[in-house]
Amino acid sequence: MGCGPREPALVNPGMSWVSPAPERPTPRATDAAAKWETMGEIAGLRRAGGVFVSRGHFAGRWKAEARVNASAEAPYATLVASSRFPGGALVVQMHRDPGSGSPGPIFAMLKRDAGFFPEGGDWEYVVTDSEGWIEDRGALPFCARCHAEAKADWVFPLPKDAK
Ligand code: HEC
Repeated sequence: MGCGPREPALVNPGMSWVSPAPERPTPRATDAAAKWETMGEIAGLRRAGGVFVSRGHFAGRWKAEARVNASAEAPYATLVASSRFPGGALVVQMHRDPGSGSPGPIFAMLKRDAGFFPEGGDWEYVVTDSEGWIEDRGALPFCARCHAEAKADWVFPLPKDAK
């Protein structure tokens, strides 16, 4: 005991996996955070469309681009009101500082099995910091409430002015 490599604390008082106050995702607690297991795949995901200013997140503070896996690519590219995403579909929105270009938070939606989160379209919502450390994930009402207004299957279309 005490001689091994330092282990991160398993529990951090005050952090909870339950959805946070609706205003903001829970800030990362250094020791309790885990890396999002999908981070390694992100570089291999395809870009969907161009770069745009995110209006939905953080009130225009960030530039953004969306990336998709193979299951999400077609429905996202051709989004109409009747579009539905299959289980396993992944859409990731990466944010960037418009001035410095440095990476910002990552927001993702991963389609789970029917019944996972019916009020949220059965998507798992994931928030990480710029390096993929999880800030919150799961059936997050904060995300779902707004995405319920989206065009199809809780997903907004790519902004038209994306370049
Ligand atoms: C106030 C409304 C609002 C909230 C809250 C919100 N989003 Fe979004 N989201 C949008 C809009 C609008 C877009 C379209 C692109 C843009 O403007 O950023 C979007 C785009 C996305 C996308 C790309 C797929 C798509 O729908 O186009 C993902 C992934 C995403 N949001 C995840 C999340 C996650 C995770 C949360 C919760 C932490 C969240 N969003 C909270 C409005 C919202």
